[in-house]
Amino acid sequence: MSATVKAVLGTAIDAPQLGAIRVRESALLLIADDGLIEAVLLPGDAEYDPALAKVRRKQTLIELGSGEYLLPGLIDLHNHAPQWPQLGKALDVPLADWLARYTFPLEAKYADEEFAGRVYESLVTAMIANGTTTAMYFGSAHLPATRLLAEICLSKGQRALVGRVAMDAADTCPDYYRDENAGLAIEETEDLIAQVLTMPGNAARLVQPVVTPRFIPSCTDELLAGLGEVARTNQAHVQTHCSESDWAHEYGLARYGQTDTVSYDQFGLVTRRTVLAHCNLVSVDDLDLIATRGAAVAHCPLSNAYFANAVFPVRRALQSGVHVGLGTDISGGPGTSILRAMADTVVMSRLLEDGVDAGLAAATRGVAESRVSFAEAFYLGTTGGGIALDLPIGLLAPGMAFDAIAVDTAAAESDLIMWEGLDSGEEALHKIIHSANRNNIRRVWVGGRSVKSAI
Ligand code: GUN
Ligand code: FE
Repeated sequence: MSATVKAVLGTAIDAPQLGAIRVRESALLLIADDGLIEAVLLPGDAEYDPALAKVRRKQTLIELGSGEYLLPGLIDLHNHAPQWPQLGKALDVPLADWLARYTFPLEAKYADEEFAGRVYESLVTAMIANGTTTAMYFGSAHLPATRLLAEICLSKGQRALVGRVAMDAADTCPDYYRDENAGLAIEETEDLIAQVLTMPGNAARLVQPVVTPRFIPSCTDELLAGLGEVARTNQAHVQTHCSESDWAHEYGLARYGQTDTVSYDQFGLVTRRTVLAHCNLVSVDDLDLIATRGAAVAHCPLSNAYFANAVFPVRRALQSGVHVGLGTDISGGPGTSILRAMADTVVMSRLLEDGVDAGLAAATRGVAESRVSFAEAFYLGTTGGGIALDLPIGLLAPGMAFDAIAVDTAAAESDLIMWEGLDSGEEALHKIIHSANRNNIRRVWVGGRSVKSAI
């Protein structure tokens, strides 16, 4: 379970730039003891043959089989761990009703640590099985359960960023699931930061704490200001929901007379380490502000189809220089896989570009130049996620952590089938994005440590 890898030989696919897929056959990756990639050697490089001979002699080489591809580990920038039991259901009502009717009652149950432990074990196992090597998690508004989530990620070897949800507004949060006051939520956020950073076995900070105001409707000004201060003093990551749906966006406008992005920024919550989930209704000025701060957007395409009332303009965000990565938004998004989020990103961008109302003339139906390619979507779920988090992950390159997955296109129980002579490297990637399931994710490494192995 916890073996560390020293060398891997196989076909490596990653995305060094937006839109550019790099396929390197017979690549030899050397991994240092600290779990970072030391070198990626290719046939023809002077050191290749001696290095290969050496790792063969020492029997430290993992050689991928034919039909196996080495990809960067998948990065999920936004999901809600306590909503895992709700995956695939409760998708029939708008956001505010969904929170009140289904989600808050479920999240309130995490006062029970035993229940939390069972759910989080199941979730983290499933995430790793699906190739998610890094996840940014919303926990619930309970410190003990959220600390348990951090411990489970650490023990299973998943790189994770974990936040205790802060939510103290009496008019939007129910009595049974609300922080008693802003001070308590701020104090417990600070406690979580201290506890996660000092967890035994976490010296390398595989798991990091996140300042987590739920969203503007559920937080008082006092709480938002206090959390901005906590983020600043601890140089901590921040995650929240931003201009997600018409209702949430208009709530923020009515309360502050300005967009969520501007409000969060004034509370000190938009930083290089901030991930703003959704952002469907942000303005061009908001995008500029997010880009100026170096913050990121977690694009959650499937969830947005249910709750957002609009398609996030990924292309426009990228043109504004905004860092963008992908999120599942479990359980608003009823899917576990970031490969699926990549495919959904492409699909939603096509709908945005073409438009959806067949009653309109084609020329006026959509938003021109909105489409995202598969290569770009792959970048967002790997390289883009790493940049968003300001962590050395997402790319198979020296200096990066060896967070990677081996996708076996010959696995049984899968619709992913390669046809000899028909499927080249990049086409193989397109097929992986569409058809790989967890059976195809044969091996998963995080920081050089094997966290899933099919054999
Ligand atoms: N806005 C506030 N809370 C939530 C949540 O749990 N999920 C989603 N999708 N949006 C939210
Ligand atoms: Fe969410």
